[in-house]
Amino acid sequence: MRIPEHLIEQIRRDTDIVEVISDFVMLKKRGRNYLGLCPFHSEKTPSFNVLPEKGIFKCFGCGKGGDAITFIREHQKMSYVEAVKLLAERLGITLPDDTGEQAQSENNRYENAYNALRFAGNFFYKNLYGDLGSEALEYVRMRGFSEETVKKFALGYAPDSFNATMNELTALGVSEEALVDAGLVSKKEESGRIYDRFRGRLIFPIQNPTGRVIGFGGRRMSDDDKTSAKYLNSPQSLVYNKSEVLYGIFQAKDALRKLEYGILVEGYADLLSVSQAGFQNVVASSGTALTKEQLRLLSRFCKRLKIVYDSDKAGVNAALRGLDLAVEEGFDVEIVRLPDGDDPDSIIQRDGADAFQHRLKTALSLVDFKGEIFREQGLLATPTGKAEAVRSMMETIAKVPDRIKRDFMIQSVAMRFALREEDLYEELTKILRRNQFTEAKERAKPQSREANDALPATEPRKTGEQGQLLRLEEEPSRDRTNTPLSTALTRSGESSLEKTSSSSQSFSQQPSQQIFPEEEELLRLALTVEGACAYMKQKMGISEDFFLSAEAKVLFVIIDEASERGKPLEALLRASAEGEDLHYGIMGLAIRRETPSERWRDFNVDISEDLARMMRDCVHRVMMRTLDLELAALQDSLKYAENTDDGDRTSALLRQIQELDTKKRDVRLLLVTH
Ligand code: CTP
Ligand code: MN
Repeated sequence: MRIPEHLIEQIRRDTDIVEVISDFVMLKKRGRNYLGLCPFHSEKTPSFNVLPEKGIFKCFGCGKGGDAITFIREHQKMSYVEAVKLLAERLGITLPDDTGEQAQSENNRYENAYNALRFAGNFFYKNLYGDLGSEALEYVRMRGFSEETVKKFALGYAPDSFNATMNELTALGVSEEALVDAGLVSKKEESGRIYDRFRGRLIFPIQNPTGRVIGFGGRRMSDDDKTSAKYLNSPQSLVYNKSEVLYGIFQAKDALRKLEYGILVEGYADLLSVSQAGFQNVVASSGTALTKEQLRLLSRFCKRLKIVYDSDKAGVNAALRGLDLAVEEGFDVEIVRLPDGDDPDSIIQRDGADAFQHRLKTALSLVDFKGEIFREQGLLATPTGKAEAVRSMMETIAKVPDRIKRDFMIQSVAMRFALREEDLYEELTKILRRNQFTEAKERAKPQSREANDALPATEPRKTGEQGQLLRLEEEPSRDRTNTPLSTALTRSGESSLEKTSSSSQSFSQQPSQQIFPEEEELLRLALTVEGACAYMKQKMGISEDFFLSAEAKVLFVIIDEASERGKPLEALLRASAEGEDLHYGIMGLAIRRETPSERWRDFNVDISEDLARMMRDCVHRVMMRTLDLELAALQDSLKYAENTDDGDRTSALLRQIQELDTKKRDVRLLLVTH
């Protein structure tokens, strides 16, 4: 499908890149820009920059950069068209229909599964208010869920039938493959025939952070019926991986960011009640023990967590486990304890929102919670038990990555158990040493998890952030080898294999990722010669738009900003800590080849004629490069137009090509004459 250029422009212009990226990365404001941990490679200090005014991002660690469309493509492993569609959806822009064409291709298995899930969600929702749904609607009311809540979470009803859902979706053009991929049907062993998985159940659609339906949970509506499970969930599928999903994350996103903490509950019903009571920052682990992946997903939005699990033994054990994991992932964790036999849903339905609020406010710290549990278990009654309790407490505290936080916790353990801090530190040291040893052993294994995590992000990965199994896009890599700067920016030579997609897409749709030598030279001048950047902007009318590659655009903006603070090279080296990737990148750019700064050091105020000529020369060569790329793209389009016998487009393209040829001649003339 060809998306009209003006719509793409509109989407580029109107998309708030900070908002888009914030769905996946926790960003901190730094000056005019934002900084965070790069989602494309594994790093400990942030080198991932987002420049809202320019609508672009750039990582100085792995070299990835581009606009919102590039981000979604790379991060969600989507095709260009899919990424544009997704951003259009966010903005409420309607794109022209794209029936037929590529709808059947293998590449679209994911899209087809998502579509099936979307159709199914609509079908279930419609049913709830239709003839079949009266019992379900009655159940919803009995549980105390308002119409608003039903709408917000798009609850639905799956008819009590083996083929109603299947038939509905098939009539909408959904293939059997898509039904299976979406986890909507089960297969009979003997006959291989498929039938509806969700039958006669209240349906809770499970959405990913961008709002796509990726699966369902279904609750049986009578608790007398003990023949089937209370809840039935989507199976692991092409698009659903339960260990990476948090129920309610889509609806909670904004509140999580605003309130800077999350409420974690166990169940679907808990989540609905808590949300309906006005606590929108709630997510549910629903049906799985809390996982690292779920916590990583949550940590994009907040770093504090209140766990409100059921009060039964299973709930307490789950809370203890979740607590350790969350602490390890750097969360500040508190635990809310509930009276025997209660869960968040029952508390709110019986005691109301204020009572729940009070419980949130009086949540227990890690030390207090564990202390309470140990006391209940009778551990604190004997010296041996007490030692065991303290040791277990220290095991958890040892997982806290922040040393200062750790110190505070140790203080409170010392106070609570009337122990000497020194003794606790001694215990801590032992634990840390043992953990280090275990880690080192892990790392030494060739196929350990850590080794996997450290792979450059450009390696095809099988699972994405939200548990979708991702498509391994087979895209031709470009021949162009890394230029020195890209090498400097992608530390230790991790190649940032650049990827381009089908060449039939027009030039303006495909901003280059990797910097060109011409651009690099121009940037080097801007970086090393004081006043050069201002000269380029004022006298030559150059802005970041002039550059071809995302990398060059971002570098230009950064150098420009630094120029306002003085000598850009020095300012940037000062601003970036040694060891930070920006530092290496800037050094790499500055010291390459014949650095002009030696020769032009004296020309602080006036730009010498030589220098001006050198700049013009660079500018013209960048222009040549731009024209060449534009021409190549037009030639491609021309081929396509000719093949499809599109006469009008063919002649329009020919005209454009001619114009570009003329322009090229002019620029070439400038290059040889000056
Ligand atoms: N769960 C599940 N499959 C089951 C039972 C439970 O997937 N057979 C998951 C569901 O996500 C459920 C959560 O575990 O919401 C907690 O289970 P439970 O406490 O038993 O149910 P409640 O959430 O309290 O559900 P309800 O209030 O509807 O009884
Ligand atoms: Mn319940």
